Amino acid sequence: MDNKMIEGAPYILVVDDEANMLIAYKTFLKPDYNPILCSNGTEALQKLTEYSFSAAILDLKMPDMDGLELLEKIKEHDSDLGVIMSTATNDVKYAVQAIKKGAFEYVTKPFQYEEILGLVAKIVERRELRKENFYLKSALKEQQSFSDLIGQTSVMRNVFMIIENMNSVGSTVLITGESGTGKELVAHAIHQRSDRKNKPFVVVNCAAIPENLFESELFGHERGSFTGAFERKIGKFELADTGTIFLDEIGCLPQSMQAKLLRILQDNHIERVGGKGPIKISVRIVAATNTDLEQALKNKSFREDLFYRLNVIPIKLPPLRERRADLPLLIEYFLKKFNEELKKQIAGIDRQVMNELLEYDWPGNIRELKNVIERAVVLTKNGMITDISLRGKAVNGMPETLTSLKEASAEFEKEYIKKALAKTGGNQSETSRLLGIHRTTLISKMNLLGLK
Ligand SMILES: Nc1ncnc2c1ncn2[C@@H]1O[C@H](COP(=O)(O)OP(=O)(O)OP(=O)(O)O)[C@@H](O)[C@H]1O
Ligand SMILES: [Mg+2]
Repeated sequence: MDNKMIEGAPYILVVDDEANMLIAYKTFLKPDYNPILCSNGTEALQKLTEYSFSAAILDLKMPDMDGLELLEKIKEHDSDLGVIMSTATNDVKYAVQAIKKGAFEYVTKPFQYEEILGLVAKIVERRELRKENFYLKSALKEQQSFSDLIGQTSVMRNVFMIIENMNSVGSTVLITGESGTGKELVAHAIHQRSDRKNKPFVVVNCAAIPENLFESELFGHERGSFTGAFERKIGKFELADTGTIFLDEIGCLPQSMQAKLLRILQDNHIERVGGKGPIKISVRIVAATNTDLEQALKNKSFREDLFYRLNVIPIKLPPLRERRADLPLLIEYFLKKFNEELKKQIAGIDRQVMNELLEYDWPGNIRELKNVIERAVVLTKNGMITDISLRGKAVNGMPETLTSLKEASAEFEKEYIKKALAKTGGNQSETSRLLGIHRTTLISKMNLLGLK
């Protein structure tokens, strides 16, 4: 019989002092497995260091080292390795001991090969699963290296990958996404991962600066350069020198500043207002916007040349409702965070509330989720969070006559759904999205409330 190994087939350690038994094992384990045959324990321990086994089959009674002792040594070496013990019928009490010592199963001689094959398959499958689990866990660990950036959906992983792969490159980044999707957090992560991480990270909110102060804010001014310039002022770009500047709400940058920014991107220097000449700087620019820049390009309120200069590495952050699978992870994260910050011990979230959270539309994205969880942690004394207030849940108009709460709720729901349906022209998918519930939930509610 050939002793060639079959590539990719799992290695199985087989230990038996009877040569005939070994031959039998070899015959039925091949070609699905690579059996490695040993006639005693010492040999087996040697093989253990040479191969990565997926399962082991040990004879219980052997002359030099018996199966129990070998089992113990194997478990010391690899506690995860599934071991099958084979035993003569009158030795069953040892077999039970073997199970206690961590053997997967025992079979009594004479056994059917299928029995062994079935057990081996089970062990191998279990080991594969565990391996996958291990990789999953290390993926999570990797994810944790982005410390406070939570997400494991493929869109978010993609974002992490972009951040990871650009670490030392100083390219300009343009982050887009709805309000509260984490643009600033991502900008920060980019800085933290770059070789500029020990240098300044300066944030400029372009939406908050009056147009006439923009230039001095960004580039600074010399004393007396304009009325009110009592002191020399260092601008944000100079402050950010050798580090990163985060230009938030870049869509709000006035036209005149757009031209100046373009110049900085081209020749890396700035000029203070009233200054004596250019100052050389090296700044990595990360810009963000939650407005549709494409639209601004079309109506020419944003310069196309600047857009392309900024958009070297685009990062699109999805709204939370498009990555709902991240919700449980985020909820858990914020719960832990606020438990710690507020010194509380909220155990978790009631299933009903959890369902509400999972179905909600999150117009304010992660910021809203964070606030909602914080509020709930504050308001919950201890135990589970059993009540949560979400936007749009508040009842404005109260009915004149008071009925049961159930009826009142149903009435409110009916009116609310009607309104939503009217708004979408009766489109159920859109309505369910608007209401943050599943389409099937919407349909069953409509049936229940007599809305057809
Ligand atoms: N992936 C995430 N994991 C954990 N927390 C997050 C994540 N994304 C955002 N947050 C948190 O949500 C809040 C809002 O994030 P951030 O300020 O970065 O949003 P933004 O996109 O800049 O919003 P805006 O456009 O309104 O300025 C912050 O408190 C941030 O820490
Ligand atoms: Mg922001």
